[in-house]
Parts: sequence; C-alpha cells; structure tokens
Amino acid sequence: MVISAVEYIVIPGTNEKISRIGLGTWQFSEAWGVLDYEFAKQIVVKALESGINFFDTAMVYGNGKSEEFLGKALKELGIRREEVFIATKIPGQFLDPHDVFKSVDRSLKRLGVEYVDLMQLHWPPCWHNHPTCPYMRALERLVELGKIRYLGVSNYPVALIEEVRSCLSRTDIKFMQYRYNLIERQAEIELIPYAEKNNMIFLPWSPLAKGALTGKYTLENLPKFTDVRESEPVFHPGNFKQIQPLVDELLRLSKEYGKTPAQISLNWIISYSKNILPIPGAKKPEQVVDNAGSVGWRLEYEDWRTLDEISKKIRISYAVGYLY
Ligand SMILES: NC(=O)c1ccc[n+]([C@@H]2O[C@H](COP(=O)([O-])OP(=O)(O)OC[C@H]3O[C@@H](n4cnc5c(N)ncnc54)[C@H](OP(=O)(O)O)[C@@H]3O)[C@@H](O)[C@H]2O)c1
Repeated sequence: MVISAVEYIVIPGTNEKISRIGLGTWQFSEAWGVLDYEFAKQIVVKALESGINFFDTAMVYGNGKSEEFLGKALKELGIRREEVFIATKIPGQFLDPHDVFKSVDRSLKRLGVEYVDLMQLHWPPCWHNHPTCPYMRALERLVELGKIRYLGVSNYPVALIEEVRSCLSRTDIKFMQYRYNLIERQAEIELIPYAEKNNMIFLPWSPLAKGALTGKYTLENLPKFTDVRESEPVFHPGNFKQIQPLVDELLRLSKEYGKTPAQISLNWIISYSKNILPIPGAKKPEQVVDNAGSVGWRLEYEDWRTLDEISKKIRISYAVGYLY
C-alpha cells in the first residue's frame, strides 16, 4: 500500500515506528462535512499510500461515524491490524468508571478492532465532576486486559496530567494532544516542555489553524463558512487582519521552496520539537497527500526564524462573535 514513505519517529521507550505526521479524521462528521463513506475511504487510501500510519479519531466525532468510517475503510483495504496505529478519545462525560468500560467496548466495535493503540482522555470531566483515580484505574485495567495499548491526554492542564499519572501503577501517559499551530502557540509555555521533559509525543490538533494557514484564505477572500468554522475566532476579520502578514510570508516561502503554504506551516511546527507529530485533517484525498509532503525536509533556520517573528506578533482575541 505504501507508495512513498514519510518520515517516522519511534515511540519513546519502544522500538515502535509511527509516521511523523498523522491523519485527523474529525472531518468524517457533520462538523466538517465528509459524510460520504466512499469519499472518506479515498482519503484513508491516500494517507496509507503516502506512508501515514497514524490515524486520530474520537468517540464523539460524528457520534461515532468517524470511528466507523475509519475502521471500515482499513478493513476493506485489507490492512493488517499491526500496520496502523489507531488513536481514539474518550470524552470527559464518559468517565464514570462503568461508562469507561462500556464506551471503550462500543468504540472497539465501531472501529471493528480487538484493541486500540492509543486511548486519549479527550477533555477533563469538567461538567461531571468525576474524580480522577477511579476512571484512570478503569482505563489502566483496559490496558492490562489488552484492549488499549497506550494512554494519552488531550486538553488537560499540566497539574491534572500530574494527577492522572499519580493514579497509574503499571503504565504511564505517552501522548499529549493540544491545539498548536503557527497562530496559536500557547502550548509552548508549559505543555510542549512537559512533553519533552517526560519523553512524551506531542500531537498538535488544528495544526493548520483549521485551514487558515493553507494560503487559500485571505482577508479579501474570507468565506462565510457553513461548517464548524462558522464562528471560529481565527477567521474573524479583526483577527485575520493580524494573520494576513503570516499568510503572505507562507505564500512567499512556498514559491521559494516549491512547497505549499500548508507544508511550510506543518514543517515549522515539526521543526519546533523532535517530540511533535501533527495530525492535520483532510477534506479531500489530495490534501492528505499534500500534508504528507510536509516532512522529510526542513526549513532553513533563517526562514524558520522569520516565520517565528511574524507569528509572535499575532494576538488572537477569542472574545469575538457575541458583541461584535
Ligand atoms: N483533541 C481535540 O480536542 C481536538 C480538537 C480539534 C481537532 N482534533 C483533531 O485534530 C485534527 C486536525 O484538526 P482540525 O481538523 O481542527 O484542523 P486542521 O487540521 O488545522 O485543518 C483541517 C482543514 O484544513 C483544510 N486543509 C487541510 N489540509 C489542507 C491542505 N493541504 N491544503 C489546503 N487545505 C487543507 C481542510 O479544510 P478546507 O479544505 O475546508 O479548508 C481541512 O478540513 C482533527 O481531524 C482531529 O482529529 C482534536
């Protein structure tokens, strides 16, 4: 299936290789609009042909549709289970220990697999007040029983990751997944250093800022989105005005390197840390091929720094949309 190989990294403390770039599959849902199974399968085919073996999904994406589409595609394509790394997520509201078992069973069924490679806590149980250790012990039991290989956190602050880890006796957190891209760099303050210090893989979500870093959206050409981006602050004109100089530089570098702006943006975050493995989503097969081409080469240091300086000037306001 692999036609061109991407760059690979080893999961710390193991000999296991995963592609340096993954495929995010939230797109297989109403939120993003890839609802035709055959079309979604073509995106998975192109990911595999490009050498991508890391797939990110979640129980809540399309109410299970994303897991279903991904599992069905891998099965129909005859992919052996050990050839791919399947990462999914359990939402904060399913963290009652009884629900942990029930929802993991259902997730495995939707994916059509005996085990998942990575189960991530999608977000903390902030509205349901589940104490940490009971749900972590339930998840650890599922590791012990062979249903989950690795555990990860997503959108958990450092203090809570420490608490999560203190509940585990036989395993540890190996992956951290957070918003991170050239526009939204808050993860550099605490989270990426934590991943580096503790030898964990850091998975940036929205690594293309939901398409804002692909060069196709400009201040003069900001579409009225009818998907999850309808009220996305990054695309608010007041914010995009600040982003435009970064997009201009990405377009300039794109010509210089013969790479697309999306590839330049992803390469920038990959260069930031050896622990980073971005998981861009794709709505079309050609986008996943393009994103796979963001690894296997590096930006010159001077160009990396130019983007660094321009991006540091951006201050996104998230308090937009309601009053103006
Ligand atoms: N853990 C969490 O809480 C969390 C939150 C969000 C996302 N995620 C995960 O992260 C993945 C990626 O994040 P995301 O989907 O929010 O945003 P993203 O990867 O930053 O952007 C994806 C969008 O950008 C456009 N695009 C992608 N590649 C392109 C290319 N090469 N050229 C031009 N346009 C391209 C596509 O939309 P258009 O073509 O319509 O512009 C695509 O739907 C998700 O699929 C999901 O698996 C996790």
